Amino acid sequence: MSYESDSLRSIYLLFHYGSKPEILDGLGFDPGGIPEGAFHFPCATTEMSKSVGNDARVLDIGCAVGRSSFEFSKSAESVIGIDFSQSFIDVAEAIRKEESVSYSRFSEAHLGDFLEVALPENSNPERVSFEQGDAMNLRPDLGSFDIVHAANLLCRLPRPADFLNRLPDLVKPGGQLIMATPCTWLEEFTPRENQPGGKTIDFIIEHIGNEFELIEVRELPFLIREHVRKLQLSTAQTSLWRRKA
Ligand SMILES: C[S@@+](CC[C@H](N)C(=O)[O-])C[C@H]1O[C@@H](n2cnc3c(N)ncnc32)[C@H](O)[C@@H]1O
Repeated sequence: MSYESDSLRSIYLLFHYGSKPEILDGLGFDPGGIPEGAFHFPCATTEMSKSVGNDARVLDIGCAVGRSSFEFSKSAESVIGIDFSQSFIDVAEAIRKEESVSYSRFSEAHLGDFLEVALPENSNPERVSFEQGDAMNLRPDLGSFDIVHAANLLCRLPRPADFLNRLPDLVKPGGQLIMATPCTWLEEFTPRENQPGGKTIDFIIEHIGNEFELIEVRELPFLIREHVRKLQLSTAQTSLWRRKA
């Protein structure tokens, strides 16, 4: 799957910036059983972090269209959002510059109406920068961060171990790592030999357990509307880690 298409950009803009009524508009069934948190996933993962000083540096890797980066900008001094998709980075940057950004909300796969993105209230876009990059081959001069956030990225990487092995460099001693994954390993993204042999959490521990202490694990739900008859409800195993001093 490519994250460059216009339709996927629209689907992610609704996922990150749409309100619950906007996401549920036109549904032909009672959405009563959907957990409330599923409408706020890009914020819920950021809320896993423990408080940091207001001089904090944050890295949001696999930031997509940028919502979590803006959430972190409410308290952090600087936030870098990196994604492999140039299309996602371009639209995140347009939102950051407070340009008018509209997107399709689909009623059928090829039909929809248009919604506008609003910059999240109380965010500080001047503290955020976005850039295209590869989580498995990040530029060497990124420096280190008080918080690294990687939401639903790991099982989209061809070589997840390359990303995990870079993490000790990226997180400052005492700093935090938030890693969310639905553990949906697919050969179209990750060759079988690079996928975990057992549980994903054990795979993460195998790679970073010497340098990071596992603080907490939560299941966070998320809802992605493709169109009015197709909504994906999933949960992400979301772990908070502290880099050992
Ligand atoms: C499932 S989406 C999750 C996006 C966002 N963090 C969220 O939770 O909604 C996976 C994201 O990872 C990005 N991605 C895939 N491979 C990547 C790579 N090698 N380096 C950086 N980002 C990558 C995709 O472009 C996409 O934005």
